[in-house]
Amino acid sequence: MKTLIDNIAQLVAVPPGPVAGRAFKAPLVIENAAIIVEHDKIIGFGPSVDAPAGPFDRTIDAGGGTVVPGLVDCHTHVVFAGSREDEFVRRIEGASYIEILEAGGGIKNSVRSLRDAGLDDLIQQSRPRLDRMLEWGVTTVEAKSGYGLTPEDEIKTLRAIRRLDGETPIELVPTFLGAHTIPPEFDGRPGEYLDAMTSPAVLECIREEGLAEFADVFCERGAFNLEQSRRFLTACRDHGLTPKIHSEQITNTGGTRLAVELGAASADHLEFVDDETIEALRGSGTIPVVLPGCSFFLGSEPAPARKLIEAGLPVALATDVNPGSCTIESLPLIMSMAATMLKMTPLECLVACTANAAAAIRRADRVGAIAEGYQADLLILDIPNVQRWAYQVGVNPARIVMKRGRIVLER
Ligand code: NIG
Ligand code: FE
Repeated sequence: MKTLIDNIAQLVAVPPGPVAGRAFKAPLVIENAAIIVEHDKIIGFGPSVDAPAGPFDRTIDAGGGTVVPGLVDCHTHVVFAGSREDEFVRRIEGASYIEILEAGGGIKNSVRSLRDAGLDDLIQQSRPRLDRMLEWGVTTVEAKSGYGLTPEDEIKTLRAIRRLDGETPIELVPTFLGAHTIPPEFDGRPGEYLDAMTSPAVLECIREEGLAEFADVFCERGAFNLEQSRRFLTACRDHGLTPKIHSEQITNTGGTRLAVELGAASADHLEFVDDETIEALRGSGTIPVVLPGCSFFLGSEPAPARKLIEAGLPVALATDVNPGSCTIESLPLIMSMAATMLKMTPLECLVACTANAAAAIRRADRVGAIAEGYQADLLILDIPNVQRWAYQVGVNPARIVMKRGRIVLER
């Protein structure tokens, strides 16, 4: 099956990630372009006048729109049960995120809801969120556990992610966030909790069923300190999981440097990252993931994305969609926020949500780029140029969403 997509006003040929420096600021944009897809892969692209005559099994008219790679949301907690609008209101009235967590609410609230939900219920509650994300043009989503916090409930969550991966067109990338916070039954006994979560029985079950690729920890006050984070991630790494970390979100704990030390795929949040840590990130393979939706939702300082980019780092953006610190499901809305709050250009936003996001989930060899041999995850957008996307805040221009060469959504 060979497809020609023609009549493209702008094709943004995002190169394979990680992308830093000049290519981050100015990826190749081809005007009046065409792209050729065979089966599930991109086999060619360039100016329309240079396109071969065919034959093609199918021609798609992009209608003078813009074509970009399918978006990659590289940090989400999209599989959860229940909601927490009560805390949203309490924060508006003055309570802080950490106060609510330390008083037994926050993440622990969602833990109660998830433990009460069966596997099918959890899937049913999460699927509509993924359906909406697909509508916005998101074709790959990292999804974390972390609201179970017992071996059974964590594995239940990872199995839900596995099932959703099979049921939706979105490609899901599973992360074991067994160290999200200390559950109430282990209050004051974080060591014993970590013993349970890193027991060979748990980690071997995850490995045998192939339930996760990454392990993640919330390194923060009210969650795990640096030593505990190191211990959790090292044990997981010994069982084949690649480390990731929630670091410097509310305070500077040194989690990002731990990420570099452990060869983590990414260090995420970074609101309170310092200059020396930025220096440590340079030359490491660890991708800095910035989550401006969280700062918007909590009304707090965003991460210094501009500084990270100017330091030559391949910054990625993600939604962090979750019931507590950011309910935003739309990655294009995050791009608009990154543009206005973080001073990232629309092109930088796109690179951060494609090539660099793919690098943060170690998939930069096949998604997040427009390059020969890459997976044909493509969006046809009803806009004449890519700048229009972030500019037209909250408006969805996605007309066709293609995943692995198949049209999975048409609006
Ligand atoms: O990335 N910070 C820790 N985890 C999530 C929030 C989880 C929650 O509040 O439910 C985050 O912000
Ligand atoms: Fe998160």
